[in-house]
Amino acid sequence: MGLTIGVVTETAPGERRVALVPEVLRKLLAADARVLVQAGAGVAARIPDAAFEGAELVPDAASVLEHADVLLKVQPLTINEVARLKFGATVVGFMQPHRQAEMIRALCDKDVTSLAMELVPRISRAQSMDALSSQAAVAGYKAVLQGAAALDKFMPMLTTAAGTIRPAQALIIGAGVAGLQAIATARRLGAVVEGFDVRSATKEQVESLGAKFVDTGVSAEGEGGYARELTPEEREQQQTALEEHIVKADLVITTAAVPGKPAPKIINRATVERMQPGAVIVDLGAESGGNCELTEAGETVQHGGVTIIGPVDLPATVARHASEMYARNLYNLLEPALKEGELQIDWEDEVFAGTVLTRDGEVQHESTRVALEGGQS
Ligand code: NAI
Repeated sequence: MGLTIGVVTETAPGERRVALVPEVLRKLLAADARVLVQAGAGVAARIPDAAFEGAELVPDAASVLEHADVLLKVQPLTINEVARLKFGATVVGFMQPHRQAEMIRALCDKDVTSLAMELVPRISRAQSMDALSSQAAVAGYKAVLQGAAALDKFMPMLTTAAGTIRPAQALIIGAGVAGLQAIATARRLGAVVEGFDVRSATKEQVESLGAKFVDTGVSAEGEGGYARELTPEEREQQQTALEEHIVKADLVITTAAVPGKPAPKIINRATVERMQPGAVIVDLGAESGGNCELTEAGETVQHGGVTIIGPVDLPATVARHASEMYARNLYNLLEPALKEGELQIDWEDEVFAGTVLTRDGEVQHESTRVALEGGQS
């Protein structure tokens, strides 16, 4: 038979997702692929081996890596995994191109074609393949739940025999994918919600979810629907206006991001010190430096009476549904290339051309190549 597709257990600390779910397995089998799954690969996402009916279960990762023509992954490969891969194989998954120089060189040495899910272009045709978005939505949802759990207040208004409880005030900063899902989740929990983004185009989306848009008078519409970096004056104006909303909030979720840049600093120490005792910040920018000056990635910090949570692995904490969405993203990307039991990628297609990280022994992604060459000299 033609194409062999492989799936291994993710080994990164805290990672519970898996790159394949039974629904997607059935589609791969229908496309005449042979599918190898490492036994136990889905267990952390509560998908037992028995659910992968039709796949060949193998006892260890090596048996998958040595035989797969196409390897489906969530996290970047380890050097050991690359060493075991078949020469000329194709790998699809998050690759963290800016942090994985050694792995990327190893992929080139093995002539591996790698498709990095971070690089899927954000065009409308590719929305169903956009794993950054699907996983950010999971993170936005879970951030609110974590924040709500850390509050010593209710989120909704309650009318009880013991009197009326006022609803919590939530402020969501950054109204991209994660932020909009956070707004929707905070609203479902009954909080009074405000949303803010430097792109004024998000005002309508924020309002359509039942939140109030914070207007600071600064707009930073950038290219391709992303934000541009603010000038120092704009940042100050935004800061002053926003601060008044931050200090009144019980729960602040920050999701502000500018592609390729460290997370913009939006909440400084002085602002935290003006916040109400018991207030909670959940900083989704933690991994890229934090939107709050006091955030520590992967930690919960207390400052005065304020709790600052810096989660880094939220999608993995909703492993079952995050895996479902992610596996569908992978399938939707690969589907046009699955032909007659083979993988035939059309490199003229802007989605594949944009997503490819390594191919033919070379780094294809321009800014990664420049960064790697810079690192070598
Ligand atoms: P996105 O690019 O869709 O949204 C980011 C939003 O921030 C944009 O709407 C942008 O206009 C806005 N923004 C930029 N600068 C701003 C500023 N100075 N003030 C206010 N808003 C500003 O990104 P997405 O997918 O929603 O992700 C948000 C963040 O969450 C990213 O940092 C991402 O890495 C992180 N994330 C964290 C996870 C975790 O487990 N901790 C999981 C998934 C995503």
